[in-house]
Amino acid sequence: MSEKQVKVVFTPSGRRGSFPLNTPLLHAARVLGVDIDSVCGGRGLCGRCQIICTDGAFPKHEIISKSSHLSPVCATEIKYGERKVPLANGRRLSCHTLLLDDVVIDVPPESQVHRQIVRKDAEYRDIKLDPATRLYYVQVEEPDMHVPKGDVQRLMDALETEWQLSGLSFEVRLLKTLQPALREGQRGITVAVHRGSQIIALWAGFRDKAYGVAVDVGSTTVAAHLCDLFSGEVLANSSLMNPQIRFGEDLMSRVSYVMMHPEGAEQMTQVIRDALNSLFVDVAQIIGASIEDIVEISLVANPIMHHILLGIDPIELGGAPFALTTDAPVNVRATEVGLSINPGGRLYVLPCIAGHVGADTAGMILSEEPQAQDRMTLLVDVGTNAEIVLGNRQRLMSCSSPTGPAFEGAQISCGQRAATGAIERVRIDADTLEPRFKVIGCELWSDQEGFTDAVRDFGITGICGSGIIEVVAEMYLAGIVTVDGIVDGGLASRTARIISNDRTWSYSLFTSEGGEEPIVVTQNDIRQIQLAKAALYAGVKLLMDHMGVDKIERIRLAGAFGSHINVQHAMVLGLIPDCPLEEVSSAGNAAGTGARIALLNVNHGMLLRR
Ligand code: FES
Repeated sequence: MSEKQVKVVFTPSGRRGSFPLNTPLLHAARVLGVDIDSVCGGRGLCGRCQIICTDGAFPKHEIISKSSHLSPVCATEIKYGERKVPLANGRRLSCHTLLLDDVVIDVPPESQVHRQIVRKDAEYRDIKLDPATRLYYVQVEEPDMHVPKGDVQRLMDALETEWQLSGLSFEVRLLKTLQPALREGQRGITVAVHRGSQIIALWAGFRDKAYGVAVDVGSTTVAAHLCDLFSGEVLANSSLMNPQIRFGEDLMSRVSYVMMHPEGAEQMTQVIRDALNSLFVDVAQIIGASIEDIVEISLVANPIMHHILLGIDPIELGGAPFALTTDAPVNVRATEVGLSINPGGRLYVLPCIAGHVGADTAGMILSEEPQAQDRMTLLVDVGTNAEIVLGNRQRLMSCSSPTGPAFEGAQISCGQRAATGAIERVRIDADTLEPRFKVIGCELWSDQEGFTDAVRDFGITGICGSGIIEVVAEMYLAGIVTVDGIVDGGLASRTARIISNDRTWSYSLFTSEGGEEPIVVTQNDIRQIQLAKAALYAGVKLLMDHMGVDKIERIRLAGAFGSHINVQHAMVLGLIPDCPLEEVSSAGNAAGTGARIALLNVNHGMLLRR
């Protein structure tokens, strides 16, 4: 008599098949190629393999599905609930659930290995979770005098039998930790396997958590985002000022420092590595994890930051033809470049594109996917350097342009970084030439009741990057600045806000009650903005000319500046080319998002090619 077969259909994949009575669901899923996660290898420890039986009639499949068509909840599932969190209503561990009759089984997103991480911005495809490093728990067989082989070989055999992983390499460094771990875990250990080929870490017993950090090394700010490698969730963020600022505000002054000081490159390498290591400690502490729990770093940076971090002298990038040492992605053990995470943890640095178009631009492209657009799209990330990408699914071109620090509030007489007390919004009445403004840290406009009291604690301290764009654009709209950028001294007869400075004029935006340290916009400030604007616009225009287009259909502004800038004012100043206003939007921290995509999806290179 032939063995009774039962039917099972998995959703959402739609994979189906027939199996002998009492087949474990996880086994059926594996045979059918259904995407169900597991770290413990079906031992009821990890809880990753949870499924839900869908009750009801499914005429299309000729199935009446019922929860009672599965084996009753067993002791292992109850124990899992007691040890971790009780299984939610209707949930079962597929590794400990047997098929008794026909069923339709739903695999919820959190149980899928390659689940999608939903990106909040509706314009974008979600990130498919597929990290380079995965954890595998195995029970390694006991040593046997009659079977003379080493514990490494026993571990490899277990990985092959339980997980079909073969040909793995095993770092010598791990040899001394293997037997103590086997002893402590009573022969049960968890290994971290990198890119399906290399064991990079191991721990005694069962473990199902490992973290990665996405890092964005900017010339001014360095930011780290700690992610759960298996849920994709960002669990902690931390940032600090790039300590290399003391060697030079902008990139070229840092290269000059290296040219003039033989030990300069090494000093800068050391300070950025130290800064990153302190960020890793920070983000690990925020979630109560240890530095050893971090097994991956993915990093974006402009070419000079990229070279200095990797310990490469950036001198060649200081002059034409701006030769990169490498434009390939870098994938090394993090300790090789002095970064302290798990000793086997990996550092992945996204590829550079050209001399001054770096891994940060690659990150921006990964995040923004201009190559998936039909419309001619312009991406701009404005910092001390502006990274510019233009194109659509036919072709992409990119360049960078040295805008200098003016857009960040530096080299402006009353400029400052975006911080509490900085003027960030400005309006000027064209009739009276009187300004009103908003400062960071206060919701009120300066002409609203209660403003003076609201800002009393921190005071009005300067103008930040977005504020300087607005005030210059408003001065132009009000006729205070002429079309060629001259502050019109002829208006001094109309308002006391136009102040003479020998041969040029300034506009006074704010004077405190005591009259000390007024906040003014000088003729030189306007010149600085003109220079920065010209650099940015020249970059955009060159790309447009090379691309042979005279119209941009969509603009995405990345970075902190892009998030705060008022688009209309930017167009008034000619910072960005004309484009329908509703097609200009902020891209947030696109380079950082690109680092996160690379961290969570080992095949991100494919995304770039799509
Ligand atoms: Fe780990 Fe089922 S596979 S609990």
